Amino acid sequence: MDYKERIEELRSELHRHNHNYYVLNAPEISDRDFDMMLKELEALEKEHPELADPNSPTRRVGSDLTQGFEQVKHIYPMLSLANTYSIEDVDAWARRVDQGLSGQKAVFVGELKFDGTGISLIYEHGKLVRAVTRGDGERGDIVTDNVRTIRSIPLQLQGSGWPDFFEIRGEIVLPRAAFDRLNAEREAAGEPLFANPRNAAAGTLKMQNSAEVARRGLDAYLYYLLGENLPYDNHYDNMLAARSWGFKVSDAMTLLHSIEEVDRFINHWDTARRELPVATDGLVFKVNSLLQQRNLGLTAKSPRWAVAYKFAAERAATRLRFVSFDVGRMGIITPVANLEPVLLSGTIVKRASLHNADIMKALDIHEGDMLYVEKGGEIIPKITGVELPDRPAGARPVEFVTHCPACGTPLVRVEGEAAWVCPNKEGCVPQIVGRVEHFVGRKMMNIDGIGEETAAALFANGLVRNVADLYSLTAADLMTIEGFAAKSAARVIDGIAASREVPFERVVFALSIPYVGETTARKIARAAKDIDRLMAMTAPELEAVEDVGPRIAATTVAFFADPENRAMVERLRTAGVKMAVEEAEDAEPLSDSLAGKTIVISGVFTHHSRDEYKQLIERHGGKNSGSISKKTDFVLAGENMGPAKLEKAEKLGVPVIGEDEFLKMIGG
Ligand code: IVH
Repeated sequence: MDYKERIEELRSELHRHNHNYYVLNAPEISDRDFDMMLKELEALEKEHPELADPNSPTRRVGSDLTQGFEQVKHIYPMLSLANTYSIEDVDAWARRVDQGLSGQKAVFVGELKFDGTGISLIYEHGKLVRAVTRGDGERGDIVTDNVRTIRSIPLQLQGSGWPDFFEIRGEIVLPRAAFDRLNAEREAAGEPLFANPRNAAAGTLKMQNSAEVARRGLDAYLYYLLGENLPYDNHYDNMLAARSWGFKVSDAMTLLHSIEEVDRFINHWDTARRELPVATDGLVFKVNSLLQQRNLGLTAKSPRWAVAYKFAAERAATRLRFVSFDVGRMGIITPVANLEPVLLSGTIVKRASLHNADIMKALDIHEGDMLYVEKGGEIIPKITGVELPDRPAGARPVEFVTHCPACGTPLVRVEGEAAWVCPNKEGCVPQIVGRVEHFVGRKMMNIDGIGEETAAALFANGLVRNVADLYSLTAADLMTIEGFAAKSAARVIDGIAASREVPFERVVFALSIPYVGETTARKIARAAKDIDRLMAMTAPELEAVEDVGPRIAATTVAFFADPENRAMVERLRTAGVKMAVEEAEDAEPLSDSLAGKTIVISGVFTHHSRDEYKQLIERHGGKNSGSISKKTDFVLAGENMGPAKLEKAEKLGVPVIGEDEFLKMIGG
């Protein structure tokens, strides 16, 4: 089989396995086998750039190139749906439909209303060619590169019967589990949390870095097929056809033959939706027949043939007791409404975030107000409004604090940001305790046995004012704190000792540099290689590191400019904490048998992967090169070496050696 056929074969197999895994939830091969096929394809594509294809399965990982978004006009405007809030309203709509069709009975399709962000996908000859956001309904942003990273969206269709050119619309969502994971990461990094999965999905889709999009785990449900030559004359069958081409079409989609069936569908999903892995904010009912849809037509904003039923927002009214102000590890002040306890979708709510000064001001909260708390797709309950008639006479507006509620320092506000910050980093208890808690976290220094209370007690007893103090703690010190016995104290001391082995990249994460999360910490640690270099890096140097923007660069420079932070770093270094990346074992030199040799790798190998061979060349003193020239000493060739390369090697008289011969050369 020649390489062209092999590339085709790998692409089509990988597309099929992707669909099995991400749409059908029924993988046929192991992750490992999948990765091996993907690696082989990557190698072949690299060698034959002329066969590049933007829809190749290798493009799912995204790219770090930042992208601006070009805008385009939608072929058909993206309308919205009329909303209804009760079964009666939906029934009234269904009766209007029957009337509009002069008494002809309509069949309806009931669907979930996914709470994400709308997307329009254009396919030509079975291939994804463009993905566009809803935008203002007339024009949207082209986000094709980001959408290609969503594994459940087919890049190449399967089966048969699709029109040469069509559009399919759906919703990009961030499943709850991925949303929770993302917010936990952001919390650990001191970054603002996403309020709900919808905002997170919309924000992610518009990110500049498609590799980060790929990492976040978006998903997509499709619910509307548009085009000139659709296979069927009704919506339901068209969606089943789309499912057979590889699209994720929700199993909830149901044909409904009467208003009674519509009502049953509503009653079922009103509660069953809570079990779904993705957020939904209602249901959608559509007239099934496309001919009937055309007869019913559109209003200016929405079609008459479809309607949304919105689930009752899980909302409750309760009295405000007082507003308190939390101080985070980075000094950010968050206003919190403390409420008379109220039951909201199964849990008792006593506190709800007011997010920041701007949001609090917009709500215009007064002392003793009756407030509405909601818990829509949201995880953290939020205050959505005030019941004005219930405002106590003479109540005064609640003011945002001007001084830190913990230490009394006047607050500062960074230009352009919504947050007020307490600048007293070294003397403000919740900030210090928060930084200690972060430092000992599992993904940072992994020191067990120190929670919020212990950190606060260590501070109160004058034992730990900054994370470096942890390394001078003794078991006897710990035993002065309530709740510590010899055994638990020894465990903490052991944990502190073991943390000296934690790799440098996690140490960087543990330092609480504002906005530097786990991934960014790893990247800047690897780029800097050691703490001295990191402390000396300028903002432009930091910005040259992948994933680091101007904001992170600025806060990092400011962090290391602070003499207190530099002193803390020095003390950590003296305590034996790792302050440099260790050259990984698998990068240590093995011999100089290839010293001075320039080698080109080509083809597919059996004993090691291409990357392993590249590493072996370096570890034996040789140099890797991508193209054959007079300077090339030899070509290490596997199977399917590209014919152009072979020809060039022959022309220049460069020896071509096989895998086994190479392994003998390096003595293994
Ligand atoms: S159909 C012309 N079906 O809700 C009708 N929309 O408020 C096109 N949505 O913009 C939309 N789930 O982003 C349809 N099963 C579903 C939906 C759905 C969510 C979104 C969509 C639309 C908005 C309308």
